[in-house]
Amino acid sequence: MINAEAREKLAILAEPGDSRGEPKPNLWHIEATRDANVVLDLLCEVGKKVGSTPEPVQLVQHVAQMTKHVLRASASSVFLFDDEERDLLREFTEGQAGEASKQVRLNTESSIAGWVARHGQPLIVNDVTGDQRFNKSVDEITGFVTKSLICVPLILHHKTIGVIEVINKIDGDNFSERDLEAMVSVASTTAISIENVRLNQNVLDSYKSTIKVLAATIEAKDPYTCGHSQRVMEYALLAGTLLPLPAEDLEVLEYAGILHDIGKIGITDSILTKPGPLTPEEWNVMRQHSLIGANILNEIPFLEKARKLILHHHERYDGNGYPDELKGEDIPIGARLLAVADTFDTMTTNRSYRAALSEDCAINELYKHSSTQFCPVAVEAFTLALKSTASETGGAKGNGHHFPNFG
Ligand SMILES: [Fe+2]
Repeated sequence: MINAEAREKLAILAEPGDSRGEPKPNLWHIEATRDANVVLDLLCEVGKKVGSTPEPVQLVQHVAQMTKHVLRASASSVFLFDDEERDLLREFTEGQAGEASKQVRLNTESSIAGWVARHGQPLIVNDVTGDQRFNKSVDEITGFVTKSLICVPLILHHKTIGVIEVINKIDGDNFSERDLEAMVSVASTTAISIENVRLNQNVLDSYKSTIKVLAATIEAKDPYTCGHSQRVMEYALLAGTLLPLPAEDLEVLEYAGILHDIGKIGITDSILTKPGPLTPEEWNVMRQHSLIGANILNEIPFLEKARKLILHHHERYDGNGYPDELKGEDIPIGARLLAVADTFDTMTTNRSYRAALSEDCAINELYKHSSTQFCPVAVEAFTLALKSTASETGGAKGNGHHFPNFG
């Protein structure tokens, strides 16, 4: 926990001069040793917090914001090596020129950040005009004027993975050795956090692969449904991205899409693969699959949100669906998108008892049942997304769609 003293100190450091225009006494200089410890403690505490951040983007945002704020600087950037480990790519800049510096790529042979990355050593440069390593081209792109900077390497297992660069003290002061100590501390915590985030991502990727294998195993029972779950996931994600849903909800939709019919594992093969329409009694059995699927996933907290979408993917917008007869907006938006995607894929693929409809016919059907069976927003989003994908791929039809890679 951040103690009360540290919190108070941060608040004071963040305040501008008083109402008479006189600057507040600089606590950093008055109580140098004590303050340095407080700042270091503070940075470590915040570092621990970013250690629990799930997304790499959020993590580097936190680090850039925190370092800019605590060192009272004009800007702070985090750079990471590209996949070839050749150039440094700007991941995030907090402060002036943040937007303009979005595309910055630094050659390690011709920049101060590159020098820091190559040598694995932190550096303070309080007058960049006198340093031959300084690369003016970045300032020319961003319109930002760099006067002084502090740059520290992000080192993991003896290997540099990127750098943090903090530019220009707001009050025009030089960066100090104490600033450097604080930055080195932050860089150490940040590098470990980045590794944790990447490892978590690997675990998630592996989990997704397992889920896809599981879904494919179920579909293997019936050759007519082969690939259905994958396509439903892709269709639902297309529509969800167009709305747009937040990234977190899209991830939930991805899991729910691939697993939406997992409950069919509990339905007897004679009904599941029946070569013809089902009787009313058989439909009653078949309708159990959404509840069975939700129950299967009951013990997996990680899939709790996806479980809810799976439970409700056969609800109807008019309240006549199952299992809970939810109506309208009471049905989660992810489940409404799944309903449209599921029906569209079923209509446009061959079944044992009928041939596939054309995409245009299937879209007409969706609109015909919009506001009764389907959510109108979901229908609109799906058809727009489908059309824009088709136009991007030269009007591909049927199985000719090329979907973005959702991992
Ligand atoms: Fe289903």
